[in-house]
Amino acid sequence: MAEAIKILSGNSNRALTEGIAAYLGLPLTKAQVRRFADMEIFVEIQENVRGKDTFIIQSTSFPANDHLMELLIMTDALRRSSARRITAVVPYFGYARQDRRASGRTPISAKLVSNLITRAGVDRVLTVDLHAGQIQGFFDIPTDNLFAAPVMVRDIKDNLDTRNAMVVSPDVGGVVRARALAKRIDAPLAIVDKRRERAGESEVMNIIGDVSGRSCILVDDIVDSGGTLCNAAEALLAKGAKEVYAYITHGVLSGGAVARIASSKLKQLVITDSIQATESVKAAHNIKVISIAPLMGEAIARTAKEESVSSLFD
Ligand code: R5P
Repeated sequence: MAEAIKILSGNSNRALTEGIAAYLGLPLTKAQVRRFADMEIFVEIQENVRGKDTFIIQSTSFPANDHLMELLIMTDALRRSSARRITAVVPYFGYARQDRRASGRTPISAKLVSNLITRAGVDRVLTVDLHAGQIQGFFDIPTDNLFAAPVMVRDIKDNLDTRNAMVVSPDVGGVVRARALAKRIDAPLAIVDKRRERAGESEVMNIIGDVSGRSCILVDDIVDSGGTLCNAAEALLAKGAKEVYAYITHGVLSGGAVARIASSKLKQLVITDSIQATESVKAAHNIKVISIAPLMGEAIARTAKEESVSSLFD
C-alpha cells in the first residue's frame, strides 16, 4: 500500500479502525484526540501529513455530538497541516434520520451535519448504508455510500438455509433495501405494514406476503430501541413464521434495546461493526457482530489508487 496514505482514528470505533488498518497493512497514524478539563476536544497529529492522502475513520454514533465534533476538529488539524486530501470515513452517519422536514418549524439536521463536515475541509466522504440514499446529495463533494449487503449475504449463505427463507422489510420505508437483499439470496419478499386505523387507537401490524412456515430474515438499516424489530418479529411469528432472524447494518441499540432483544423471540440479530459493540452487545446470546473492515479497507485502497469502487456493491 502506498506510503502516501495516512489512516487516523477518532475515538468512536477503535476496533473497526484497527481492522481496517490491518486489512490495508498500514499502521495507524499517531494522533492524540483528548479532552481539556472542561471537556473541550483537542487534537494533535504527531506525524508529518504534508501532501498525504488522509482518511479519518469516525462514526458519528453515541455520543453523536462529541464524535461529530472530534471529526470536525481532526479535519481542521489535517487541513492546517497541509494534507493533500482528506476523506471522512463515516461507517455510521448519525443524524441521518432527520433528513426532511416532517412537520413545521423543524430542522433538516442531516443537511446541517453534511454542511459542517464539508465546511470543515473534508474532500470526500465514504459511508455505509445511509438511512436515505438521497443524503449523498446533501454533500457537494464526492460521496460513496457502500452497502453492507454483500457482507450480510455471505453470512446468510454460510449460516442459514436459504431454501426456506423469506426476506422481510419491517416497514414500508425499507422495502427497496429488503428487496435488494432478497434478490441476492433468491428469496421472496414480505412487508410489515404498520397502520393506525383511527387516531388514538394502537398500531396494527399487517403482513403483506405469506410467511407461514418460513425462516424470516428482517432487513433494516438501523436498530435503535429495538421496537420496530421486536414488534415485527412478534407479528411474523403470530402469522406462522417458523423463526425470525434480523440483519441490520447499524446497531445503535440505545437504552434498554439489548435487553429487549435478548428477551425477544428473535432467533438472532446480526449487526455490523459500523458502531463499536458495547460489552452488553458482546454478551447478548442472540446478537452477532460481523465486520465491515475488509469492505471499508478495500474501498479506501481503491479510493487512494483512484480506482472504481463500484464492484464492491456486487
Ligand atoms: C426507520 O426508518 C429505520 O429504518 C429503523 O427502522 C428505525 O430507526 C429503528 O428504530 P427502533 O429500533 O427504535 O424501532
